[in-house]
Formats: sequence, structure tokens, C-alpha cells
Amino acid sequence: MLPVTNFDPPFTITRASHVSLAVTDLEASRDFYRDVIGLVVTEESDDAVHLRGLEEAAHHSLVLERGEQAKALRVGLRVRGDEDIVAAERWCREHGVEHERVERPHQGPTLHLTDAVGTRMELTSSMETVPRKMQEFHEFVAGAPQRLDHFQVVTHDVQSATDFWTSLGMRMAEYTATDGTDELWGTWMEVKGNTHDLVFTNGRGPRLHHFAYTVPDATALLHAADVAGSLGFGDEIDRGPGRHGISNALFLYLRDPDQHRIELFTTHYQFIDLEEEPIRWDISNPRRSQLWGMPASRRWFFEASEFPSQPVHEPLLQATPATLEDVLSLH
Ligand SMILES: [Fe+2]
Repeated sequence: MLPVTNFDPPFTITRASHVSLAVTDLEASRDFYRDVIGLVVTEESDDAVHLRGLEEAAHHSLVLERGEQAKALRVGLRVRGDEDIVAAERWCREHGVEHERVERPHQGPTLHLTDAVGTRMELTSSMETVPRKMQEFHEFVAGAPQRLDHFQVVTHDVQSATDFWTSLGMRMAEYTATDGTDELWGTWMEVKGNTHDLVFTNGRGPRLHHFAYTVPDATALLHAADVAGSLGFGDEIDRGPGRHGISNALFLYLRDPDQHRIELFTTHYQFIDLEEEPIRWDISNPRRSQLWGMPASRRWFFEASEFPSQPVHEPLLQATPATLEDVLSLH
């Protein structure tokens, strides 16, 4: 069933903004994101490292926290202002949504909430600002990532996740459904004017599949792959380079030392005008995921980062796209 966007939401979400991960070797993870990906270290302590993209003025878009186990801790969105945090808190209270006001370093008012499918979210209205590095070209390394753009979450119930977030103002740009139907397998939803800020796909969830940074161009993407290879992380490229059908981005996916997944990609097209209908894809159409080349491996499709204390549920929908292993076994 296609979702209906609430264009008068109870509070205003403006964009995907930051993610926090628990990592088991903080120094190894810091080195990976700084040297193999090319993020900027804004600040580090014994327990946490805050990083950002080269264009970003916000203090951080990635927080690595020292942990016993590798986990996805929080998926972060920005809201317009402090009054939106107050409104979000009220809305959660009125709708029985699990939530908590928290203090987070370098952030303004911040609210944790758990969405309809168990995704651990963090809303904040502001961050400390730092200088943008976008013209410090001598500091560009690896993929030269510019800014955090979106998240993909695996969920057992794509319909419920999509209904939850479209009721809060998100708009679906593209979707995958079982063949010939509008039975949702995956939804790509946005608030900032390109194709997605938050994606849900069908599978064992909730788990964070990946977070994504834009890179300047295809050359930067390939350079990131070369740097990953030369620094010994060639085996940790688990997909790409390739071209998505959905969203039309060139992409490269890498796994960090704890197997959290990051995507580097060239940018998406604009999705702003309200008369544009979402693009629908049959799940059996391989071009939806990849316009050329082989489909993704099982590793890419089925591995993802769990959230702490969130039970993982088996998917309601028993449908899976063809994987690389499926294609190879046919030949
Ligand atoms: Fe992505």
C-alpha cells in the first residue's frame, strides 16, 4: 500500500545528519575513517572520535564510541529548531512512542526515539559549528567525502516503517515492490530535496545496513577504492563500483574494521516538485539495484549492524532479490 505523506507534520525534519557506532577498536576505526575513507577528525578522546565530511560545518556526522561489541547506536536526523524537539517530544508522548531527552556533546537539544520498527533514532536541532574544509584541497585524501547524505535500515516491516516516517513528513521518491503489486519491499524517502534521507528495505531487522557520504565525482570514488586496496582493505569493498538504478548514483560500499558498512556515492537527482510520482520497481528487475554489472553478493544483502537491546525480527515479507551467488550458480 502506498504511503501518504503528511505535509503538515507535527515537527519539521530537515535532513539525515549523523550516526553513532560502537566500535571495538577505536583507534583502528578512527584510522579507517580518516585514512581509507577520508573523513576529517574534528575531535577525539579516549572514549570517542567525532568526524565530519569536508564540506560539513556541523561538528560531526560520524561518532565512533568505544564499545565491547560492534553495534549501530543511533541514526541521526536534524530538525529545524529547538521548538521542533519540544514538539517531537510531545508527539512521542501523545502517540506512545518510546523516547528520552538526552545530553549529547557538541549538540543542542537532543531527543532519542524508537520508531515503529525498533530503529534507534536521534533528533537534534543544532550542533557546534567548525570551519568547512571544502577548499582545503591539500587535505583531500581517499574519497574526499563531502557530507553525510542518507541511511539505509533493514526492517522486518517496511510498510509500518514507511507509514511512520511519511506521517512525520517524509516523502517517498522510489520504491521496490513484489512483482506487479504495491506490496512494499523497500522505500526510499526524503525530506531534503534529493531522493532519500532514510531508506527501509525488507529483511531481518531492525539493523543498520549503511550510512552514506557524497564524494565529488567518479574519480574520487575510484581513488577511494585504490586507497582501500593499497592500505590493505581491498577485501572490505563489498560492492561496487557500480551504478544504482534507484537514485542513479555511482556507488562504492566498504566495511569498516567492525564490519559496519559505509557507502560513498556521487550525488542523487533532485526530488522536490510535488507533482512527481515515485518511481516503482519490481523486485525481480536487477536494474533497480544495479544498472550494469553483477548483482550484489549475499554478504551485502544480508549482513548489517544490529542496534543494542533491540530484538531482531524475521521479515514479514518472504521476498529476496537475486544475489551474485544466485547468478553464478546458474552458470
Ligand atoms: Fe545508500
